[in-house]
Amino acid sequence: MVVIIVGGQWGDEGKGKIIDLLAEKVKMVIRAQGGNNAGHTVVTGDGEFKFQLIPSGILYPEVTCVIGHGVVADPRVLIKEIDQLRERGLEPSNLVVSERAHLVMSYHPIFDQLEEASRGDDRLGTTWRGIGPAYSDKIRRIGFRVGDLQKEAFMRKKLAFVVGQVKNPVLTDLYKEEPLDWERLLNEYLAYAKALDPYIKDTYPIVQEALDRGDHILLEGAQATMLDLDYGTYPYVTSSNPTAGGAVTGSGVPPTKVDLTIGVFKAYTTRVGYGPFPTELLDAVGDLIADRGREVGTVTGRARRVGWFDGPVARYAARVNGVGSIALTKLDILDELPEVKICTAYDFRGQRYLHPMANISHLKHCVPVYESLPGWQSPIGNCRTWEDLPAGCRAYVERVESICEAPVDLIGVGPRRDQFIDRRRQPLFG
Ligand code: GDP
Ligand code: IMO
Ligand code: MG
Repeated sequence: MVVIIVGGQWGDEGKGKIIDLLAEKVKMVIRAQGGNNAGHTVVTGDGEFKFQLIPSGILYPEVTCVIGHGVVADPRVLIKEIDQLRERGLEPSNLVVSERAHLVMSYHPIFDQLEEASRGDDRLGTTWRGIGPAYSDKIRRIGFRVGDLQKEAFMRKKLAFVVGQVKNPVLTDLYKEEPLDWERLLNEYLAYAKALDPYIKDTYPIVQEALDRGDHILLEGAQATMLDLDYGTYPYVTSSNPTAGGAVTGSGVPPTKVDLTIGVFKAYTTRVGYGPFPTELLDAVGDLIADRGREVGTVTGRARRVGWFDGPVARYAARVNGVGSIALTKLDILDELPEVKICTAYDFRGQRYLHPMANISHLKHCVPVYESLPGWQSPIGNCRTWEDLPAGCRAYVERVESICEAPVDLIGVGPRRDQFIDRRRQPLFG
């Protein structure tokens, strides 16, 4: 069985936790897109783990964890993540990095910052990790792939060209910065090549053999639907396709082999960075949710913007990804509220919309239509069955289901691995 895990909002829905708890029953987890702009948290009895590039199934030694070719990987960050696992007594010998994945070069974060600074008030609020510049170079066919690390002569020739002819003229003439020394870069990357050599593989046969055996596979999405280049709030998006289609192209699993897409939704909404956010709360309720939910970015430490559950966004995400099952996370964060609200539609100039409009200035100025539900005002962190949940809480979940037109099968009631409710009648992986 092949299952895609996709973020349904603007990221940080708790995908890492869902991957970790499902990974116990699978043979392979593949990260399909994004880079170290992602921060996926897993909390086990051994404490908290934050993964940026390494798939969230890595804590199970028998699960092959693939960094797929749709990912842009910064080798500095990958090496650091591997070292951090080792420091905690975990040898990631189950990690495989696709030769076809692109490298985030050390100049990409520099260009990310320079481009952001030059946008002034129109800046996007990127993570400054070089993601946009790395994907741009991939599309321009001047990117470096992970497999290139093992080809010194090729790296030498291409670095001389890319740095000398493309990067340095922009750096010096446009940004008035110091030029890059491509020979120093070459030596730097040859050292990374050595460190990563054991993990670099052609993942095509590895993934195909797993499919042939009928192994259970999870495709781990990073970012989320509303950050998708095509479906999201462009240009306030990331530079990849974090939706279900991107999981397919970025992993090497054909679309016809995918059995289910699980949409991960937070019980409310958060967003890091700029761009429209119709249900954003700029009041004490927002502060309370942000505080209880510890809504601080995993990667950049920035405060996440917080708002009510956005029905039009969630329904749109469910539809464009073909979500057949929902994991609703952080429901426990709403425990104390006397009233919870769900946005069921947007009003824009007297017209009702049930989906986010493509025109972001309309989205920026629409008025959310809210439905109010009574809060349950009791802690749910120890609930382990549907029946354990207070009636008000169940009503909230059922409203989410009716809006998204998909069942809420998993419910997060706390950050720990064991803090969830599984409502499925049949186990997902037989
Ligand atoms: P991801 O990027 O989608 O993997 O999500 P992040 O890890 O960036 O952010 C989710 C945060 O919520 C992490 O700190 C998780 O430990 C935490 N978390 C996940 N699920 C739950 C839940 O059901 N309840 C609570 N309270 N925290 C959760
Ligand atoms: P996970 O996988 C939340 C946001 C950034 C910014 C925009 C573009 O942890 O859910 P980029 O650096 O990608 O060019 O920034 O996208 N962003 C995320 N927000 N969670 C993420 O990943 C994100 N990855 C990128 O904050 O608004
Ligand atoms: Mg995150």
